[in-house]
Amino acid sequence: MNLSDIPPMPPGPVLAIESSCDETACAILAPDGTCLGQHVVSQDGHAHFGGVVPEIAARAHLALLPGVVSATLHDAGLRPADIALVAASTGPGLIGGLIVGSGFAKGLAMALGVPFVAVNHVEAHALTARLPGLVEGGAPFPYLLLLVSGGHCQCLAVEGVGQYRKLGGTIDDAAGEAFDKVAKMLGLGWPGGPALEKLAREGDPTAIPLPRPLWRRPGCDFSFSGLKTAIAQKLAPYGQDALPRQFAADLAASFQQAVADVVADRIEHALDMMPQAGLLVAAGGVAANTVLRARLEDCAARRGVRFTAPPLRLCTDNAVMVAWAALETWHETARRHMPPPDDSAMRPRPRWPLEDMATRFEAVASIP
Ligand code: KG4
Ligand code: ZN
Repeated sequence: MNLSDIPPMPPGPVLAIESSCDETACAILAPDGTCLGQHVVSQDGHAHFGGVVPEIAARAHLALLPGVVSATLHDAGLRPADIALVAASTGPGLIGGLIVGSGFAKGLAMALGVPFVAVNHVEAHALTARLPGLVEGGAPFPYLLLLVSGGHCQCLAVEGVGQYRKLGGTIDDAAGEAFDKVAKMLGLGWPGGPALEKLAREGDPTAIPLPRPLWRRPGCDFSFSGLKTAIAQKLAPYGQDALPRQFAADLAASFQQAVADVVADRIEHALDMMPQAGLLVAAGGVAANTVLRARLEDCAARRGVRFTAPPLRLCTDNAVMVAWAALETWHETARRHMPPPDDSAMRPRPRWPLEDMATRFEAVASIP
């Protein structure tokens, strides 16, 4: 291929699929990032088990995907033949769902004769803030990303497309997992984060002293298991008895405050480790927590750093972010005068460290 023939933009819309956990999602974006249609189905078969059951999730993705994709095409007013690029979350995540989603996407790409882009799910979270119009003033590189969800809890230096450095991560539970487990101990439903936040509104965040794990330690790793154990100890005297409402609310508020405090402390350290960051982005389901958001906002303001948390529908798992990451990848390869990406031979990767993403662009070194 003559390098001057490489188009700066894909010649039509990109269709993307997300299926790495328990959301079955599809989105279609125009080449400039405008969303033309999107659907997210949060699978409801897991609540009974108190967590995502991988086999149930994979089967549900298989059952739901054709309808979700058709509905998205319908909403966008497009036919399959209008699609110029197909993408899917290809890792990290639950292998069954990844096989279903990326297999579906590869089959579609092959049938349409268009390229397939394998998207790293965490990279998709990391690049969401760059969706056109989402963040006032844009989200130029480099920025600091705090990803806090049920499965992820990490601080990332986002330095460019494919250029990520993990500054710290959890050494035990993810933040959302801690919310879910504590909510379960309090007898709340699953997922527990939103229910716990609601109960905490009736409580006093200073009522019950709780530890602040890793407080002021160097680096920006996280730990939540000590906090969880402390809650279990506070609950032990009640055995199987019903908890007094005010005590449960005070415990929820005190736990939420402890999480917000330790995350803010870790972010202070992460900002020290990344003095060039002009923007702090919070993503993942836990970023919906208003107490945590307020702490992060305050942290950023005191450091003269802008703060943003994408709206909830883009913070939690969705396919818009997958489509956008595919577009960013396309643009980056074009910018580097590389051929457009085509990952049709790539297998799903349940573990896919972000540090590996740079290899996608390493071939540039061999281009004169
Ligand atoms: O990003 P997400 O939808 O899915 C993944 O885990 O990938 O995040 C879900 C997590 C759950 O653990 C849920 O309890 C937590 O985010 N969460 C919250 C809130 N809303 C959702 N945690 C605390 N406060 C909330 N308001
Ligand atoms: Zn996610």
